Amino acid sequence: MTHILQLDASARPGLAGIDEHGSLSRRLTQRFVSGWQARQPGATVTHRDVGGTPPSFIDQRWIQAAFTPPERREPWMAEVLAESDRLIDELTAADVVVIGAPLYNFGMPAALKAWVDLVVRMGRTVDFDPSRPDDPFTPLLADRPRHAIILSSRGGAGFEPGGALAHMNHLEPGLATALEFIGITRIHRVSIEHQEEGGERLAASLAAAERRVDGLIAQLSELYQASREATVPA
Ligand SMILES: Cc1cc2nc3c(=O)[nH]c(=O)nc-3n(C[C@H](O)[C@H](O)[C@H](O)COP(=O)(O)O)c2cc1C
Repeated sequence: MTHILQLDASARPGLAGIDEHGSLSRRLTQRFVSGWQARQPGATVTHRDVGGTPPSFIDQRWIQAAFTPPERREPWMAEVLAESDRLIDELTAADVVVIGAPLYNFGMPAALKAWVDLVVRMGRTVDFDPSRPDDPFTPLLADRPRHAIILSSRGGAGFEPGGALAHMNHLEPGLATALEFIGITRIHRVSIEHQEEGGERLAASLAAAERRVDGLIAQLSELYQASREATVPA
C-alpha cells in the first residue's frame, strides 16, 4: 500500500470554505489525501504541519554536525541532527509527497525552506564524491519512483509557467530543484490564483485546481496499482 507524506506550509491553520480565514493550499492537500484514501483504503498518511509548527533553522552547530562523517561524530552532534533525521525518515518512507505551499513574497514560506534545509543532507539524501568533479552528486532518494505534488495558492495571477509573472515565481521552481537534487524527479504542480481578488475568478481557479487534483489522484493511483500488480508474482 502507498504511504503519503502530507506537508502543509500555510501559516493559516483552517480550511478555506469551512473555517474563517482558512487556507486554500490546505484545502487542496486535504482533498488530495482524502481522495487518495477513498481510492486506496489501506493507504497510510503522515502529516507534517510545518506552517503550524515550523522546523528549526539550521545553524553553525548543525552544519558542523552534518558535515562530520558519522563515525567521527560526537554525542552532541546526534542531538543536533535528530530533527533532521526524523524529517528525512518521514520523507524516505513516503511514496507520494503532497506539499501545500502558499506563495509568500515570490517564494516558498520560510517554514518550508527550513524543512528543505533539514532534508537536503549529505550522506542521507544526497551523496558527494569529490573524485568525480564532473558529476559529484548522487541523489539517494532515486531508489524508488516517488512523486511530489506541489499544491499552491497565490493572491495574484499570472505566476503559472508561461504567465506574465512567471519569472517572479520562485516557489515551484525552487522547491522542484531541491527535490530533484535528492532524487524526487516526478513533480506535479497545481495552483489556485486570484485569492486577493476573490469572487468569480477565485471560484473558477479553485474549481479548476480541484479538478486537476482529482485527475492526479486517478492518474497516480492507477500508476501505483499497475506497478504493484507488476511486482506481485503470478
Ligand atoms: C506574507 C505573505 C506574502 C504573500 N506574498 C504573495 C506574493 O508574493 N504573490 C502573491 O500572488 N500572493 C502573495 N500572498 C498571498 C498568498 O499567496 C495567498 O493569500 C494564498 O492564498 C495563501 O495561501 P493559503 O490560502 O494556503 O494560506 C502573500 C500572502 C502572505 C501572507
